[in-house]
Amino acid sequence: MPYAHITGWGMYVPKKVLTNDDLAQMVDTNDEWIRDRTGIRERRIAAKNENTSSLAVEAATNALRMAKLAPTELELIIVATSSPDFIFPSTASLVQDRLGAEKAGAFDLSAACTGFIFALNMASQSIRSGQIKSALVIGSETLSRLVDWTDRNTCILFGDGAGAFVLQAAEEPGGVLSAVMRSDGSGGDLLSIPGGGSANPATADSVASGLHFIRMNGNEVFRFATRVMATASKEAMDKAGLKVEEVQLIVPHQANLRIIQAAARGLKLPMERFAVNVDKYGNTSTASIPMAVCEAVEAGMLQRGDNTVMVGFGAGLTWGSLAIRWTGPFAEGGPVRIRSYRRSARLRSWLRRLWRFIEGLIWGRGRDSSA
Ligand SMILES: CC(C)(COP(=O)(O)OP(=O)(O)OC[C@H]1O[C@@H](n2cnc3c(N)ncnc32)[C@H](O)[C@@H]1OP(=O)(O)O)[C@@H](O)C(=O)NCCC(=O)NCCS
Repeated sequence: MPYAHITGWGMYVPKKVLTNDDLAQMVDTNDEWIRDRTGIRERRIAAKNENTSSLAVEAATNALRMAKLAPTELELIIVATSSPDFIFPSTASLVQDRLGAEKAGAFDLSAACTGFIFALNMASQSIRSGQIKSALVIGSETLSRLVDWTDRNTCILFGDGAGAFVLQAAEEPGGVLSAVMRSDGSGGDLLSIPGGGSANPATADSVASGLHFIRMNGNEVFRFATRVMATASKEAMDKAGLKVEEVQLIVPHQANLRIIQAAARGLKLPMERFAVNVDKYGNTSTASIPMAVCEAVEAGMLQRGDNTVMVGFGAGLTWGSLAIRWTGPFAEGGPVRIRSYRRSARLRSWLRRLWRFIEGLIWGRGRDSSA
């Protein structure tokens, strides 16, 4: 049975930085309160011309470049996101088109901040079953578009960004070793966007009442998160047959430094064994774990052959974890020019639209009029 190795990783964050002091100009808050209660110092905010798919494409480009894998080799693209460009088409389909991933099936996965963990497990299972040989898993968010910038309880927490992993099959043991996926829908109301779906379709009234913004019971979510982080991490280790001391790095969802500290206490591990970058980016939901991995690798905290546990929680309620043996790129060849694939993808996409238009002129009108 093949193993699913992580052979490429990449991240992308928007240029604009929003500091706690900036936020203090917008709502009744201050830098000290935000740092004490969350550990966050600043977050990134997408520019007007950026959105979840464009951030995803940049992160994916970096991950594919690292793996030296052409987009045309990909067989699956999963975008985990809580802030898709549209309800449909999926953000993953937009990414597939822009990368020119001709052979890839693409879909979005909705499990809020746990989405990247679930998506990585789904992609890994597809590889392990022998169905496919390569996959791209992306966590991408522009939560700044879903935040009520007058609500100090939520607007201080979230930020924009994207992270991506390339997964490839190999017989050599390693990669994703075990997974834990859990949900408790009875807590769905604790963290939600109540409007814009089929339960409360978007209307002038729903917008006026702010139903399209993130609503959260912070204390309840905090209690839930501190309860599940250590146990889920331990469960993934047990399933993979790993002892805590055999795991070099824990990569937790970056929501609040105090939640990560509680997980460290629960696992009886020092904070040095945890990847932390919540101070720089806030909570980027599905993007937080792959972004933290990218920076941990860069800092030398995660190396080939190391064992790592990634653990997340979020709305749903959902939570989950993965034990992974870190691999790194397979390919030894020269660089793959992902940007030139993107240029040809743009041309191909344009030609397809043009062809559809021409086909419509030739066939579509005739059929319409005969209907
Ligand atoms: C939101 C969160 C930071 C609040 O921290 P907390 O220590 O629980 O703070 P509380 O909600 O008890 O609020 C304490 C006080 O600070 C006030 N406060 C809330 N937000 C504030 C802000 N941004 N600035 C200043 N004061 C604030 C509250 O109104 C409250 O005042 P009161 O005592 O006069 O009523 C914390 O509950 C949390 O991180 N929860 C988890 C959220 C999360 O991770 N969500 C994403 C899941 S993926």
